[in-house]
Amino acid sequence: MSDEERLQEQMAYYRARAGEYDQWFLRQGRFDHGAEQNRQWFAEVEQAARALADFEPTGRVLEFAAGTGWWTEHLIRYADSVTAVDASAETLTLNRARNGESSVRYVQTDIFTWKPDAHYDVVFFSFWLSHVPPERFAAFWNLVRACLAPKGRVFFIDSQYNPLSTASDHRLEGEKATTMTRRLNDGREFRIVKVFYRPEDLTARLAALGWRVTVSTTGSHFLYGSGTREEEDHAAITAGITQGRMR
Ligand SMILES: C[S@@+](CC[C@H](N)C(=O)[O-])C[C@H]1O[C@@H](n2cnc3c(N)ncnc32)[C@H](O)[C@@H]1O
Repeated sequence: MSDEERLQEQMAYYRARAGEYDQWFLRQGRFDHGAEQNRQWFAEVEQAARALADFEPTGRVLEFAAGTGWWTEHLIRYADSVTAVDASAETLTLNRARNGESSVRYVQTDIFTWKPDAHYDVVFFSFWLSHVPPERFAAFWNLVRACLAPKGRVFFIDSQYNPLSTASDHRLEGEKATTMTRRLNDGREFRIVKVFYRPEDLTARLAALGWRVTVSTTGSHFLYGSGTREEEDHAAITAGITQGRMR
């Protein structure tokens, strides 16, 4: 299967899954791994939410792959405006139902062909980086960069490699695999991109691309990262030095 075919199949999967997507977050049906595991999951969701709150995603916020709006709902609390991008009309309909048309500008488009329409103070994406094919990693981060205003910041949440994070009938291939088979409640199967990152490797890869990003984990299910472009830091430092000299 070509890269393009896989990305098409990935979009088709999330369109077909829209109505059952939140079962994953809510640990229902095939995602229910028992009371103790579920308690752990929800505690880690809360930890990720607290990290996002501490980050304070204020100003103009762009959300990539917004999906059914679980995290859009968090962004609205802090942002002056939220632009939510997703390829799936089905998930955006659910996002609208959850968050309302007045608080969010919705853009239905393929991220891999989309061109930034403005500059944003924050770019946010949850459970999206792992669906970016490895060979498009640098291009995706260039897109994030192009979307950011000076001093703009990025925040992301994603999956750690953990069989208990996914459905009981999904098989995680090795930690280094970059694709996996996903199944819907009706048994239909799709091959999608799924890349697992370790915090230290991701931090290093991003540093090599000119990002200063700190990546942490919530324990066993999630990782989250935040940061900015190094050049933004340099610009701020340079500005500080210049101001210091002028005084
Ligand atoms: C794992 S879900 C994450 C949704 C949401 N961010 C969350 O945390 O619940 C991935 C999302 O990416 C969207 N998506 C998949 N391929 C896409 C593409 N090429 N362009 C834009 N969105 C895409 C899907 O429709 C889906 O809503």
